[in-house]
Amino acid sequence: MISRRALLAASAGLGLARARAQPLDASLGADAQSAGLLFGASIGREAFDDPAYGDLYRREAAVVTTDVALKFDWLRPSPERFEFGPADAIFEFARAARKKVRGHTLIWNDNAPAWLKALSLREIERTFDAHIERVVERYAGRVHSWDVVNEPFWPMDGKPGGWRDGPWFAAMGPAYVERAFRRVAAIDPAAKLTLNEAQCDNDRDWGRQIRPLLAGLVDRLQQAGAPLQAVGLQSHLQPQWPADYAAFAAYAAGFGARGLEVYISEFDVNDQSFPDDVAVRDAAVAAVAGRFLREALAVPAVKMVVCWQLGDGYSWYRGIWRRAHPGAARNPRPLPFDDALREKPLRSALGQAFAMRRASFEKPGFALKNHAG
Ligand code: XIL
Repeated sequence: MISRRALLAASAGLGLARARAQPLDASLGADAQSAGLLFGASIGREAFDDPAYGDLYRREAAVVTTDVALKFDWLRPSPERFEFGPADAIFEFARAARKKVRGHTLIWNDNAPAWLKALSLREIERTFDAHIERVVERYAGRVHSWDVVNEPFWPMDGKPGGWRDGPWFAAMGPAYVERAFRRVAAIDPAAKLTLNEAQCDNDRDWGRQIRPLLAGLVDRLQQAGAPLQAVGLQSHLQPQWPADYAAFAAYAAGFGARGLEVYISEFDVNDQSFPDDVAVRDAAVAAVAGRFLREALAVPAVKMVVCWQLGDGYSWYRGIWRRAHPGAARNPRPLPFDDALREKPLRSALGQAFAMRRASFEKPGFALKNHAG
């Protein structure tokens, strides 16, 4: 158990280190850019309904990821309908504010509406091709990177090879992955095609099982000549579980050695195991993030850090927590800004991690750890 004193000391240490580093810009996006990184966050209609929240993205983010707007069940309420409005609004925001866009996500065996599950396997296969074609064509040339396939593995589904079960897997087996990458590349060759996966940052059974499965899939895709440019490691950190961030960095560097970019694609810190006290909790979140980012950002192949939203009030953990603890006074605080969009210690930890990476670039002859090209 970490003491309150140790946690507050850790956060004070962060502040000190920040004061010693080069002065930081007013924007995490700019700080990250000077360290060879893209920084941003997932975005949804909250950023349009709450203008101050939209301004926070304008100031802090260089890239935005569509949060739910392009997920199959949100986009496709029925077989004929494509609800492009919410995603179009994000692309328009990004155009006007000169932000890059990550498309999340084309193919995922989760988030399947009932109508899709009711189709024949042959119809599911046709829907797969037509969905990719229609969505990728609409945004071609405007997408920095596509999460072509999200979360391919979920060993708990009990399928051979640890594959996540769902309609696409049922219809095509493991071949759906390569098929998706090839079809997207044929329509939008400029986008960086990304395989996005969860859990790789923890050392509980999930992380330990999924890491080698993902690496094996990447090897097979590359051997087959499939168009894959990046691996997204979601990094929803779970400090209540065991983790080894140096080993995570070495794992990420392995993808760099295969010529791929690595994106920390859905960063936030689950604070459920930390004390109620807000100052203590925020310090603990920042300390975990600092330890993780120090390792991960030393890997040259890591080119991006995207938070899953920017403000605690809009975190996906809020809904999960409220369902599990109705009426609780406490709320999750996993993100760099609080409910009033005030900066938290996690923002300092991000800025500090970017400054450390920039400083390591600036040292003459300094080779980043795990250098892999
Ligand atoms: C989350 C969304 O942010 C929530 O709004 C939704 O209710 C559930 O999904 N991994 C992913 C994301 O790849 O798509 C998930 O997003 C978070 C976990």
